[in-house]
Amino acid sequence: MELPRPLRSAVDAALVGVPTADLARAGEILSGRYRAETRDGRLHLSDDLFARAYIAARLPATFAALAASIDAVAQALPGFEPKSLLDVGAGPGTALWAATGRWPQIDAATLLEASRPIRRMGERLAEGSFGFAPDWREGTLGADLTALPAADLVTISYVLDELDPAALPMLVDRLWERTAGVLLVVEPGTPAGWRRILLVRDRLLALGAAIAAPCAHERTCPVTPPDWCHFAQRVARTRIHLRTKEAVVPFEDEKFIYLAASRAPVPVQRNRVLAPPRAGSGKVQLKLCSPDGALAETLVTKRNGERFREARRADWGDAVG
Ligand SMILES: C[S@@+](CC[C@H](N)C(=O)[O-])C[C@H]1O[C@@H](n2cnc3c(N)ncnc32)[C@H](O)[C@@H]1O
Repeated sequence: MELPRPLRSAVDAALVGVPTADLARAGEILSGRYRAETRDGRLHLSDDLFARAYIAARLPATFAALAASIDAVAQALPGFEPKSLLDVGAGPGTALWAATGRWPQIDAATLLEASRPIRRMGERLAEGSFGFAPDWREGTLGADLTALPAADLVTISYVLDELDPAALPMLVDRLWERTAGVLLVVEPGTPAGWRRILLVRDRLLALGAAIAAPCAHERTCPVTPPDWCHFAQRVARTRIHLRTKEAVVPFEDEKFIYLAASRAPVPVQRNRVLAPPRAGSGKVQLKLCSPDGALAETLVTKRNGERFREARRADWGDAVG
C-alpha cells in the first residue's frame, strides 16, 4: 500500500530542507511515546518538527490501516455511499484522503484536531486537492465535539490510545450521535488497542448499532487472551520514510484493529479471516471468525470447489464464504 500520488508529493514538498537527523530524532521520540501510550497531558504532535516526523514516519502506515478498514466497510455495506465525513483527532487529514479515495462523492468534511502544528500541516497537504473546502477545526474531543455537525461517515483513527480511558464511553455516545451512517474506529493492532475496540463494540451494541466489520456477528467476541484480534497491511517505505526511521527494509507491516458500526442493518454476515492463511498443496488452512459467533481453524481442500478457490485467494482480514 502506498499513499496516493498527490499526497505523496505534498508530503515530499513539506519535508524539503528538514534535516534528516532532526526528523529521525523526532521520529524516535514519537515512536517511544506511541509505544508506551504516554498520557502526560501533552499532545505528542506538539510542534512543527513532530508534525513533520509524523507525516514522514506514521502517515503512510495509518493511511494504509484506514484504507484497508474502509475497504472492508465498502464490502460489508455495498449500498453505503457517504457524502459527508466527520473525522476527529484528524492529525494531517489521513481519513480525509482515505475516505475520499474510496468514496469520491464525499463533498463535505469536518476535521477536528487539537494540535495546531499537525492541523496546519493537514491543511497544507490538502490544499487544492479536493473539489470542496475541508472544514478544519481546532478543538478537543472533550470540549468541542458537541458543536460538530453529523456526517454520513464518522472516523476516529489512532486517537483512543491518547485519551483517558474513563472518557471512552461518553466519547462513543457522542460520536454515535453524530453518525448518520457508519462510525469507523481504528486503533493500533496491539492487545491494548483490541481491548479498547472491544469496549467501543460493547457500547455501540448497547446503543443499537449493527457491526459491519471486522466482526462476523454481534455476539461475544470469541477471541481470548493471550490471542487478540488484529490485521496487518504492508506499507512501502519511501526514501525519506526510511531515513526518518533509520531503517533499511523497504517496507513495514502495520498492525491495526478497527470497528465499523452501522445505522443500517448489515445485509450479509461473512466469515472473517483472522490470521495469514496457511496454504499447502491442494489445501488452505484458515482461522475464521464466523457468523455463528465461533472462532475456528478451518481446512478447505480442493474438494470444496469454489470455496477452495476463494480460500486460495483470501488474505488476512478478508471476508469469505
Ligand atoms: C496518532 S494521531 C492520528 C492522526 C490521524 N487520525 C491518523 O490516523 O493518522 C492522533 C491525533 O489525535 C489528536 N488528539 C489527541 N487527543 C486529542 C483530543 N483530546 N482532542 C482532539 N484531538 C486529539 C492528536 O493531536 C493527533 O493529531
